[in-house]
Amino acid sequence: MTNEKNMTTALFIGRFQPFHLGHIDAIKQISESQIIIGIGSSQYSKTDDNPYGFEERKKMIEQSLANEKINYKIIAIPDIHDENNWVEHVKKTVGDFDIVYTGNDLIKRLFKEKNIIVKNIKINIPISGTKIRNDLKLIKKINNLKNSKNAIILVHNYQRPEIYEVADFIGDSLELAKKAVETDAKIILFCGVDFMAETAKILNPNKKVLLPTYEAKCPMAGMVDIEKLKQMQAQYPEAKTVCYVNTTAETKSHCDVCCTSANAVEIVKSLDAKQIIFLPDKNLANYVQSKLPEKKIIPWEGFCYVHSKILINKLKKGKEIHPNAKVVAHPECPMEIIEQADHVTSTSGMITYAQKSNAKEFIIATEMGMIERLQIEVPNKKFYSVGGVCIQMKKNTLENVLSALEEEKHIIEVNENIRIKAKKALDKMLQIK
Ligand code: 13P
Ligand code: SF4
Repeated sequence: MTNEKNMTTALFIGRFQPFHLGHIDAIKQISESQIIIGIGSSQYSKTDDNPYGFEERKKMIEQSLANEKINYKIIAIPDIHDENNWVEHVKKTVGDFDIVYTGNDLIKRLFKEKNIIVKNIKINIPISGTKIRNDLKLIKKINNLKNSKNAIILVHNYQRPEIYEVADFIGDSLELAKKAVETDAKIILFCGVDFMAETAKILNPNKKVLLPTYEAKCPMAGMVDIEKLKQMQAQYPEAKTVCYVNTTAETKSHCDVCCTSANAVEIVKSLDAKQIIFLPDKNLANYVQSKLPEKKIIPWEGFCYVHSKILINKLKKGKEIHPNAKVVAHPECPMEIIEQADHVTSTSGMITYAQKSNAKEFIIATEMGMIERLQIEVPNKKFYSVGGVCIQMKKNTLENVLSALEEEKHIIEVNENIRIKAKKALDKMLQIK
């Protein structure tokens, strides 16, 4: 195995079930001039575990490598279930090779025992094929269960991308509130945070509303103290109170009208009062003030920990590296970020903007997960994030979605007196926009 020709051939062996970005990255790291891609195992059975046959997997690999200058061939390696003769069997099946690349520990050991060099690949893209296979099973179970239980799954844009796969609708807070009103499903499973599910319950008292994870709570929604709010309202008797949808049902019950990031400016503009108490987000309040100088906005001192940590230096650096990129910011960002933005909008507004814009690249100032959503919806453009992670949003997992639906647990309840008052603030918002 040491002549010069042989030294240039690598065997990359894996199940490729499913084939993903991590595999492409791995193949690009192989420096040998010829590559044999060996698709392992005889399990071309099209079962839940192995939904694709050899030809389908081969096609996926070929499509993914279509633009790469790589000299490769793809060969099936049927499993003979005989460890002692397995390496010889591979050699007979694929022909000459010198070095093996694989992520499978058993395969590594078998080649090493036969004195064949096994090289490691750096895992730059940490995607696990096992996790994807498990996710596919969970997705199937959730989708079957949701149909049999007459449930609808509403999903916020910041959710993990695997949760998009079980969604009946994915959107921003306003779109999701509207969907919650329209649905005739018996159960609403809300993949988002507490205030979103509570909003669905306020609008649908007769439906069962579930949250996959009890701990998925937006910290900003908990920043309002009702007694202090009443004092503020007494101090400004002429003022109308506008609450961001990121509030508890109780807070909403003390407000005139609700708003979301998609309609805050229009809602405040539509009110006849000059003075507006705006809560809880001071950044959104400042943004609305900048758009409506004729109003006097009295802000609450709340904030979103994800958006307020977006750093101006990081954004400026991003603009230096990607000078042609448009900057799109969520209005929960601090003013210094908003001032640098080409467009300020809600999470779903970002998708629409990216679709319609002539620009090919975008710097996105909001929660990091929005990049995954944008990349799926606008695949031919590039997105760079300057935001951090909302850990509360990410607490929802496919496992939690399944168990919440199976056991119909984490039921959202709202006191009826509070609900009726909170609904008025939401209804008023939905009538205006
Ligand atoms: P959107 O309504 O724009 O989706 O925003 C919700 C949110 O929580 C942003 O942090
Ligand atoms: Fe709340 Fe901020 Fe998370 Fe949105 S990103 S849910 S505002 S903590």
